[in-house]
Amino acid sequence: MGRFITLEGIEGAGKSTVAQALMRALEARGIVVRATREPGGTPLAERLRDAVLTKGEETVSPEAETMLMFASRAVHLDNLVRPALARGEWVICDRYTDATRAYQGGGRGVAREFIETLAQAVHRGTEPDLTLLLDLPVEVGLERARRRRVANGQVVADRFESETLEFFGRVRSRYLEIAKADPLRVHVLDATRDAVQVAAAASAALDALIGRGT
Ligand code: TMP
Repeated sequence: MGRFITLEGIEGAGKSTVAQALMRALEARGIVVRATREPGGTPLAERLRDAVLTKGEETVSPEAETMLMFASRAVHLDNLVRPALARGEWVICDRYTDATRAYQGGGRGVAREFIETLAQAVHRGTEPDLTLLLDLPVEVGLERARRRRVANGQVVADRFESETLEFFGRVRSRYLEIAKADPLRVHVLDATRDAVQVAAAASAALDALIGRGT
């Protein structure tokens, strides 16, 4: 079996840069790596991503949002993550269920039991071996994300990008709470540092995982 590594953090934390660095570090060791993301990762799961992230006219309740995240996750697990792990590949996933816990649970106030019941049914035992939480103050993350949107010429903010500072404050707190409750799995990295330093810290956490015996 391969290993399942997830990256988490609020917008602007630098997850994609870290994912690329980790991929290179693992490939240099001869490990076959699949980089993917949630919501999304497979054609159908990406369509579900568009459906949930695009802000339209209709009301989408926090529970509906949660179920759309898990629908995308179920498709992704069945078609990409589990087959890759079974082949012995390592999977680096940009966000997983901790994002649902933080955004829908912390941010929107969805009940923990609702999320955990869906998590159990959808994961069916597929849990991350290591989660890197890229932590930084909300103001810093959102400003980075805003600059990136301007640079990419993105005019319309998605369902989450248009949220308030208070919302992201709750998301960040819930992420830190998850890390505190599960310190063996979740490593918190200070993401205010420059990308090279964050990537180096992420690689060090990965070395510890490799050291635990693959
Ligand atoms: P991304 O911009 O990092 O690709 O993530 C897309 C957005 O989806 C981001 O704002 C976080 C949000 N999200 C949730 O709210 N719940 C989830 O379960 C996942 C995976 C993402």
